[in-house]
Order: sequence, then C-alpha cells, then structure tokens
Amino acid sequence: MPKITIQDLLKKKKQGQKITMLTAYDFPFAQIVDEAGIDCVLVGDSLGMVVQGLENTLPVTMNEMIYHTRLVSRAARNSMVIGDMPFMSYHTGIDDAVRNAGRFLKEGGAAAVKLEGGAGVADRISAMTKSDIPVMAHIGLTPQSIHRIGGYKVQGKTKEDAGRLLEEAKIVEDAGAFALLIEAVPMDLVARITESVTIPTIGIGAGPHCDGQVLVLHDLLGIFDRFVPKFVKQYANLKAEARDAIMKYKDDVERGIFPSEKESFK
Ligand code: KIV
Repeated sequence: MPKITIQDLLKKKKQGQKITMLTAYDFPFAQIVDEAGIDCVLVGDSLGMVVQGLENTLPVTMNEMIYHTRLVSRAARNSMVIGDMPFMSYHTGIDDAVRNAGRFLKEGGAAAVKLEGGAGVADRISAMTKSDIPVMAHIGLTPQSIHRIGGYKVQGKTKEDAGRLLEEAKIVEDAGAFALLIEAVPMDLVARITESVTIPTIGIGAGPHCDGQVLVLHDLLGIFDRFVPKFVKQYANLKAEARDAIMKYKDDVERGIFPSEKESFK
C-alpha cells in the first residue's frame, strides 16, 4: 500500500469515509500505528506531557520535535507523518516559521506540519503552503495558549466564540491549510464548521461530526494516567499490564526462577 497523501484525505472527506489519526513519538509505537492502518500519525508536542513528564507542552523544543519525528518517519510505511510545530517555533515571524516548518520535512522526514491558531497565523500558513510545506491548522482549544485562555477549557460555547471559530475555519482554509484539527469544541458547532469547509476536519473532543478523529496514543492505550480527559476512550490498560509483567520478572529473579536452563547457555 502506498503512503497516504493529502489527496487521499480529501477524497475520504468527499466520499464520506472517516479519516483516522493518532499520535506517536518513537519507532516501536509508530510501527504499531502504521501496521494498524491508521491514515495519519501526528508527532504531537503532547510528547512533552506523555513522554517527557512535563506539566504542559510549552517547553518542548524544535530539536526534540525533529528527533522524535525522525524516529516516527523511519517506522511509517503507509501512514502520513505530520510534525507538530512547538511553542515559539512559528510565533517570531514568517521567515522563522517557514524555516522551522521546513526542518520537519528536510530533517524529520514528515510530509506535513501542524500549527496551532486560526486568523492569527494565517500569514504563516500561507507562506508555508507557498513553500510546498503542507499545513494542518488547529483551532478550538490550543494547548500552547493555556496561559492566555486560563486552562484546558471547551471553546466556542458563546454565540460570539462560535462565530469566531466558524470564521477562523474559513480563514485557515483560504490561507491554504490542507486540513483542520478542532479540539474541545461543542459537537453541533463542529458539524457546522465541517460543512462549511472543503478541507477535512479532524476532531479531538469535538464529537462525531468531524471528517476524522485523533487521539493521543498514550491516552488510548492507558499509558498516561496523570489525568484522563472526558473525550478520551481508553482501549487498553497498558500501564497496568506493563507493571504486572515487570513485577512478575522481579519476583522470578528474587525467587531464582529466572533465568532457568531454557534461557541459559550450555
Ligand atoms: O500534540 C498533540 O498531540 C495534539 C493533539 C491535539 C492530538 O495536538
């Protein structure tokens, strides 16, 4: 099966087929996501929280993102790899933004980048697109803005905010974004946004009316348990399974059961 392209995603929207996306940050998990047939793998800056143990995503650096994107790209045979632009990598000007976005393709092996924001980053979306760097926009709850918005809150609940989100969706589409990630927005508003744009919408905490869905892999697998947002469905409890396996190993070593003759050389 060839690599998923932007054109495949647009076709899926047109044909009413759902798009699947998950995060991954390293080779083994990216390989599992790819083998499972997921369309897009996002190397999210959520890596700060679920891999690096940070409080939020703000300290994640460009070099860290490039390193993890490279690991993921090495594993992704079919899934489209999207690199997430970290805080302050696209805020200081168009030139910086294009240069940093380009690193995801040149050094990270990604096929596209994602950045947070709507009208405020339209000039950067347009400049990247003109430089042949496909961009996924991200509106609604944008975790890099937590200090401005005052925490991880559902967005678009007032009439005014809903109107603003509808406008932002059109603006990023016009700027050239190939897809739009919508986070933590009421589902009826998301349905209106999805109908109003021709590019695919990918939701997280945005209900069922998006063209596709994304989750943080460590949430879905039950590896990250510091907090579990309402929109997460845990499909496994890998943290508990891993801890059980490690405790069995510890017990075997302490009781002299491991290694046995079977695991030893003669
Ligand atoms: O960084 C991330 O993982 C994200 C999520 C919204 C998927 O942006």
